[in-house]
Parts: sequence; C-alpha cells; structure tokens
Amino acid sequence: MKLGLLTSGGDAPGMNAAIRAAVRCATEHGVECYGVLRGYKGLIEGDLIPLDNRAVGGIIERGGTILRSARSKAFLETEGQASALKRIREHRIDGLVIVGGNGSLRGARWLESHGVPVVGIPASIDNDVPKTQMSIGVDTAVNSVVDALDRLRDTAIAHDRAFVLEVMGRDSGYIALAGGLAGGAEVILLPESSRTLADVVAEVCEGVKKGKRHSIIVVAEGFSPSDGPEPSPSPGRLVAEALEANGTVDTRLTILGHLQRGGSPSAFDRILASRFAQAAVNWLVEGRSGVYTALRGERIEPVPLADVENACGNVDLGLLRLAGIVAH
Ligand code: F6P
Repeated sequence: MKLGLLTSGGDAPGMNAAIRAAVRCATEHGVECYGVLRGYKGLIEGDLIPLDNRAVGGIIERGGTILRSARSKAFLETEGQASALKRIREHRIDGLVIVGGNGSLRGARWLESHGVPVVGIPASIDNDVPKTQMSIGVDTAVNSVVDALDRLRDTAIAHDRAFVLEVMGRDSGYIALAGGLAGGAEVILLPESSRTLADVVAEVCEGVKKGKRHSIIVVAEGFSPSDGPEPSPSPGRLVAEALEANGTVDTRLTILGHLQRGGSPSAFDRILASRFAQAAVNWLVEGRSGVYTALRGERIEPVPLADVENACGNVDLGLLRLAGIVAH
C-alpha cells in the first residue's frame, strides 16, 4: 500500500508533528509514504517525494510544514482536478491523508467522491472546522496571543493606556475569545457578536470612570462594528481610531498578523497532531475513508467529510460573558 500526505491552506503549528506521526505509523503497518509538496498545487503538478522514518526526524518541534503549503485556485478548476486525479493514478497512490482547514477538507471531499480514498486532518489556527473541539495549531496560536497580551499589558500599565490588539480569525472569533479570556482583556470583539464602536468606546470610558487606568481590547480580524464603514478596513484600526477620537484614553494599536501562525507547536498541538495522524493512517489501512479526524471529549472520532459544510459552533458566547465579568 502507498499513502500520500499533503498539507494545504494556511499553515498551522503541529503540521510537522502530524507528518512525522503519519509516516511512522504507516511504517509500522508496512505502508509506503509519499509527501506531496505545496498542497493541491503539487498534487496537480505531480510533485511527490518519498518519505521514510528518517526523512521526518527532528521536525516535531518545528512550526510551518516541511511539505510546504499553498492555497490552490487551480484545484477549483476542472483542468486542475483532472490533472490531480491523473497524477494520483500515475504514482499508484492508494490513499491520501490531507492536513488543512475547511477549504482543504472540501478538496478532500471532492477527491473521495471521485474514487480516491481520503482521510482529512483538521489543521487551522482559526478553530473553525465543524464537529471537532480543536484543530491542530489552535492551542499554539492562542498561546502566542496570550504572550502578546502579557507584553502589551506591561506597557499599558506603565503608560495608563488602552491597547487594541487585532488577531486573526477571518470568519471565526475563537482565537480572539480564547486569547482574550486567558489574557485578561477588558473587551473582546468577535464576528459572532454584534457591537457598535460607540458602545465599545462607552465601555472603555466607563472602566476609566471606575478607576481602571489601562485596558486591553482584543479584536478578531473578522469583527465588523454595526456602525462602522462597509466594507470595513482593519477593525482593530477602527476601534483604536474611535477611542483616540473620544480622547478619554491614550490608545495604541497592534496587529499581530502572521506572528501568531508561526512558532514551535505547544505540547497540546504535538500530541493532538500525533493522535490525529495515527487515527488517519489506521483508518486508511482498515479501508475506512471519506472522513476526517475529530477531537470529541477525550476521543478521536471519524466525522464524514460532508460535515465540513456544517456550521462550526466552537465559539461559546458564554465564555464571552464570563470574560466580561472577570475583567471588570
Ligand atoms: O485560516 C487561517 C488564517 O490565518 C486566517 O486566520 C487568516 O485570515 C488567513 O489565514 C490569512 O491567510 P494568508 O496567510 O493567506 O494571508
């Protein structure tokens, strides 16, 4: 049996731990492994390299992905898809492990529906894959946000300032919510919860009146204030400008950007990645495919690839209310 492994979409810390575990679990079953370079782009071009246990040594602690990644537009076109299927047949690949977020899992679903056995592994810092409590990379990214917040709070306290931190999360506020709660933010703004700029400014000013000399506002990049311009530019910038214009508190803005996507994976992400990869390889060897790995409670369970179209629900607005209570 020959398995192909590919990482696709935005990279996530822990992808390398998944590659390492998949190759070594496959070896345990006597299965050969090939790495597809640059995700679906490399699949279309037939860019495959053999992977054995030694090729994946010394990578568990590395962020990014040794297979590299891409967001392939060509795989959405008929020509690209046909070429990918041809390459899979040419290289006699019996099954694929596809590591990535919702877009990558949609690609996996398409391949499965065209006769290629696939198991997906959710990896995206956004934690927006449905039916799994966690995706690979989320824990590390949230810890990077908390680290940034701890540093910003030092300087916020020193200068009696408000700091606005904009974090990633195009359609999901998970990073902002988890990072903001753990980092003690006074205000957390999410795409899932509507707020006006006027309301945010009033809340910060109310804190000042109550004797709060500094505040931290965490804004998800997908947040859009209901009284803001459409289309909205950086929502963090909008919030910082509204606070500055009010004049009650001196305000600074930090946009964390891709700093939160790199870095060495946390122990949690390394373990999750290893467990997901073991399950994915075992299922393919047993002849089970068309599913992705999901963390549900303590267990790793298979979820049909079709469920990637469901709403996610990982953002718990109860935690937003808790964050509001404990920060004031
Ligand atoms: O999906 C992960 C993610 O990091 C999002 O949070 C962010 O909006 C997006 O990728 C950025 O993508 P790119 O690296 O392609 O600019």
